[in-house]
Amino acid sequence: MLGDMSHMTPPSAGQAARTYVVTGSASGMGRATTQLLEAEGHRVIGVDRAGASVECDLATAAGRDRLADGVAELAPDGLDGVIACAGLSGSANAAEPVVRVNYFGAVASLERLRPLLAGSAAPAAVVVASCALLEAESDDDPLLLACLDGDEAAAVALAAGYEGLTAYRSVKRAVARWVRREAPGASWAGARIALNAIAPGFIDTPMVRPEIREQVAEKFVQPLSGPGRPEDIAAGLAWLAGPGSRLVCGQVIFFDGGYECALRGELAI
Ligand SMILES: NC(=O)c1ccc[n+]([C@@H]2O[C@H](COP(=O)([O-])OP(=O)(O)OC[C@H]3O[C@@H](n4cnc5c(N)ncnc54)[C@H](O)[C@@H]3O)[C@@H](O)[C@H]2O)c1
Repeated sequence: MLGDMSHMTPPSAGQAARTYVVTGSASGMGRATTQLLEAEGHRVIGVDRAGASVECDLATAAGRDRLADGVAELAPDGLDGVIACAGLSGSANAAEPVVRVNYFGAVASLERLRPLLAGSAAPAAVVVASCALLEAESDDDPLLLACLDGDEAAAVALAAGYEGLTAYRSVKRAVARWVRREAPGASWAGARIALNAIAPGFIDTPMVRPEIREQVAEKFVQPLSGPGRPEDIAAGLAWLAGPGSRLVCGQVIFFDGGYECALRGELAI
């Protein structure tokens, strides 16, 4: 089902209209990104569990098939950008769904839709990681390594021994490492497709429930901004998935009002 595009305005001068997929389009950063791109005159195929052009559960193999089939049907001429925002909170969910959605659902979204980017003049893909990746147990964490091996059964088995939040940190670090590993290779840079990640700090979205908001704000001190807005992330995602960032490849960019810099200091680049 195609969305009503009558509200779309023409893209700004010099910028051709592009077709994007945004996962997690029904809420938070995905919603703000969809609104921004549509306001700029682009077409967005939203993907979410409900309230989207393609409704599917990215935790499951069947849902990921539904994603690939549904998007291919809606975009027979292909895509220009894929933006993977869909994710679950680590503090409100068990480790297994966090692993399935935040790592395997995110990577599947990018990999399954990659063939549709082949015909674009400036194809790009972006995934949302998190500043929480800085707190992952270690780079030898078995859950992280099972994710990077692409072994979902092993990762889910390991998840039984993790709290949701601990798993969240590990799989967000795995997402960032996956981007670093894959972006310069044949499938992505070799196919002219820019692949990058944004690692947000604390952003005021429905994911951060009112009862934990104060605790999260105390932990994620963001000297430049305080808590971020989903619109701040949308601007970065739209830029990285757009035609104006063609030299950016394999980067994990912290959008966090200075949290990472204050934490790690001047030499951590
Ligand atoms: N809010 C923050 O402070 C923060 C910080 C760092 C990273 N993130 C990450 O940013 C991304 C966007 O989060 P948000 O804050 O906008 O949250 P949100 O809860 O507002 O939006 C997440 C969206 O993902 C969708 N989703 C969840 N599980 C899904 C599934 N199985 N299949 C399809 N869709 C599914 C939800 O329905 C929802 O619409 C997530 O990956 C999250 O981990 C959030």
